[in-house]
Amino acid sequence: MYLRVPLILFLLASAGPSEANIFARGSEHILRSIDSAHRHAVKRSSNLARDLRRAFSPILVSQDSSSQSVYCVTGDGLTESGGGSSGSGSSGGSGSGSASAKASGTASASASAASSSSAASSSSPWKLQQSYEGNSFFSGWTFFTASDPTDGTVQYVDSGTASSANLTGINSAGNAYMRVDTTQTVSGNRQSVRITTDYTFTGGLVILDAVHIPTGCGTWPAFWSDGPNWPNGGEIDIVEGVNSLTINQASIHTSSGCNLPSGDSSTLGISGTIVGGTNCAAAESDDSGCGVQSSNTNSFGAGFNSIGGGVYTMQWTDEGIKVWFFQRSSIPSDISSGAPNSSNWGTPLSFWPSTDCTMSKYFYDHQAIFDTTLCGQWAGNAWGQSGVPGQEQSCAATTGVSTCAEYVAGHGDGFANAYWEVKSVKIYQESS
Ligand SMILES: *[C@@H]1O[C@H](CO)[C@@H](O)[C@H](O)[C@H]1NC(C)=O
Ligand SMILES: *[C@@H]1O[C@H](CO)[C@@H](O)[C@H](O)[C@H]1NC(C)=O
Repeated sequence: MYLRVPLILFLLASAGPSEANIFARGSEHILRSIDSAHRHAVKRSSNLARDLRRAFSPILVSQDSSSQSVYCVTGDGLTESGGGSSGSGSSGGSGSGSASAKASGTASASASAASSSSAASSSSPWKLQQSYEGNSFFSGWTFFTASDPTDGTVQYVDSGTASSANLTGINSAGNAYMRVDTTQTVSGNRQSVRITTDYTFTGGLVILDAVHIPTGCGTWPAFWSDGPNWPNGGEIDIVEGVNSLTINQASIHTSSGCNLPSGDSSTLGISGTIVGGTNCAAAESDDSGCGVQSSNTNSFGAGFNSIGGGVYTMQWTDEGIKVWFFQRSSIPSDISSGAPNSSNWGTPLSFWPSTDCTMSKYFYDHQAIFDTTLCGQWAGNAWGQSGVPGQEQSCAATTGVSTCAEYVAGHGDGFANAYWEVKSVKIYQESS
């Protein structure tokens, strides 16, 4: 688990001619991965999610031609420099076929139950199990109050504290928000929120409709799902990034033996770019897992927020795990109507197929989680990173503060945009 990984250089072949890979075509993707100084953190948090992420000091790889995309190591992957392309990655596509997972879910008593009269269920392979939205959004989640497993300078508060401090609530649009405390100066850590569904699922379809993702120097938000005894139950990161980035990274983390059959986007049939190698085992990837980065600069952060956000879907079946992103203007009607069918969704952002990773062995009993941590193993280490979409200049330069932790402690006004605004989270299981 603590194997030291030397500097690795991958040259990924140019992507194929499919439209989905237009952003990669003609480019060499240079991936470098380095070891970091945070190995101790891994030990301390060995039973927690996402949480066991590798911290990489960012490296800027020099860019030597306009046709080359340059990637920099961040927490557990790379961020693209140059190009500036954006797109939803929803064109063309292989379609996923209908789900075949032997999915099952167990609801806790407090979770809000799905309506039994969900619209047009006859045209969807999925049946709604849990819907978190509107005034009852926070029913069915447990507030996590332990110290941050990723070493963030954050203090997660309980439900009552969050509500009375207005860190959580429902706004006039009926959307749930989860904010970071904006008190200008704090002694110790800054308050934030991390919540986990009481509902547990094995297989299924998770649909997040969000208007706003936390953004700004020092932030590290994520929406993901996680199984027990990390990494044995697996981890699926759906939305994740740091600081001012505007591109999303989806990842899986597993126990040993789960691999991607290819590191090539066109071979996998995805619009994203593999950024962390093809061995998804935490122990053999220096905890970085298998990350896939979007090239859509509206997929995260200020870009996402500027277009009113959109929808992320994560489909987990016996075929594998896929993540799609749809900007608000291009959300498929089957999703809007509550009858999701991924056959209509085109090329996914990411796909981790079951061919070299038997789903039932590596993923089980997941719960969905939101958080916004601050600094820590990814955002803190990427404080000096520059030349990446959304973070063309480093946070050190834009804030004038030399460390992330110092910024968090003394600049509450910098966290005005460090909030989630969520229309809904819906979790489906296969119709029987
Ligand atoms: C999903 O959509 C595809 C393509 O439109 C269709 O052939 C299929 O029947 C749909 N699945 C269900 C269960 O309705
Ligand atoms: C609570 O936070 C929301 C969202 O940021 C904001 O719109 C509202 O004005 C706040 N309410 C109070 C009483 O501060």
